[in-house]
Amino acid sequence: MKKRIGILTSGGDCPGLNATIRGAAKACYETLGEDNVQMVGILNGYYGLINNIATEMEPSDFSGILTQGGTILGTKRQPFKMMTVIGDDNVDKVKNMKETYKKQKLDALLILGGNGTHKTAKLLSDEGLNVIGLPKTIDNDIYGTDVTFGFHTAVEIATDALDRLHTTAASHSRILICEIMGNKAGWLTVNAGIAGGADVILIPEIPYDINKVVEAVEKRTSSGKGFAIIAVAEGAFDIEEAKLKKKERAKKRADANEITATNRIAAQIQAATGVESRVCVPGHMLRGGTPCAYDRILATKFGVYAAQLLLKEDFGKTVAMVNSKVTANKLSDIAGVSKFVDPEGQIVETAKNLGVSFGD
Ligand code: F6P
Repeated sequence: MKKRIGILTSGGDCPGLNATIRGAAKACYETLGEDNVQMVGILNGYYGLINNIATEMEPSDFSGILTQGGTILGTKRQPFKMMTVIGDDNVDKVKNMKETYKKQKLDALLILGGNGTHKTAKLLSDEGLNVIGLPKTIDNDIYGTDVTFGFHTAVEIATDALDRLHTTAASHSRILICEIMGNKAGWLTVNAGIAGGADVILIPEIPYDINKVVEAVEKRTSSGKGFAIIAVAEGAFDIEEAKLKKKERAKKRADANEITATNRIAAQIQAATGVESRVCVPGHMLRGGTPCAYDRILATKFGVYAAQLLLKEDFGKTVAMVNSKVTANKLSDIAGVSKFVDPEGQIVETAKNLGVSFGD
């Protein structure tokens, strides 16, 4: 009997999803023999699992995708908090997902995704499905793993953006503020900020005081450099906003017609310093395109390790990198927990020792 292995990608895409899919599938074929494995692609994430949208895949489907960005399986955001809620469509999503697993006669299901995806993966595991998770996200905020695939590529792209902003900022004596993805966690911003030589780095974990930001910019511009580069995480907020509950903060922003703080920061800096301040938002460019070599290797290691777990029938786990070794965590230990930048940690300390301001 062929082993039937389902695979899906859920949540926001990132570079390295296809490399991971390829790693897992090739390792299954290699270990069991192509004739003994049937890979089943579940399309568009949990949406495909809920609606039984699946396709049997051939070994050739996994060839030539190592360097390809995005995901050949498609993806969708399917919020965890709605998974157990029966909406107007009367669909019992959990029941449907279990039925698809049965209808597709799956022996196991590989689930590639971020924090929300892992919560649903745990739910499915608790419901008795043979699930293995794989941690993807450019945000690098999955608990229990030092790194997620997609992160290093995004750091490269964000760093390149900061490098390019440097030359134009210097030419025009401007302050250029780059908004970098990361709604809750500042890993991408702090890493790209250091690699790209930002003068100020603002992240959600460290609420900023705009006066301190202005001070840092003035120190820089008065030291002879007529320009400054600021890296702002999209989820950054100031010390006043930090006093508000999440919902209150969102309402205040909506009333002010703001989604992120970045434009406000630019206006405040320009008003205080008189130096022209502009905003650049690379946005989804950080998630698109080919994975860097590091991510290709990481994704391959993770994919192969997931296949090994699967063949050992070691389910209910998600692959992780801990102290440079690939390993796995129990879904029950990591689902629902996020990994944030420690304001007192080494990466922040490193930047501060260079004179970088976090606005605190
Ligand atoms: O993948 C995580 C993330 O990149 C966050 O940093 C960002 O806030 C979010 O996705 C954007 O998602 P979407 O593509 O759904 O707008």
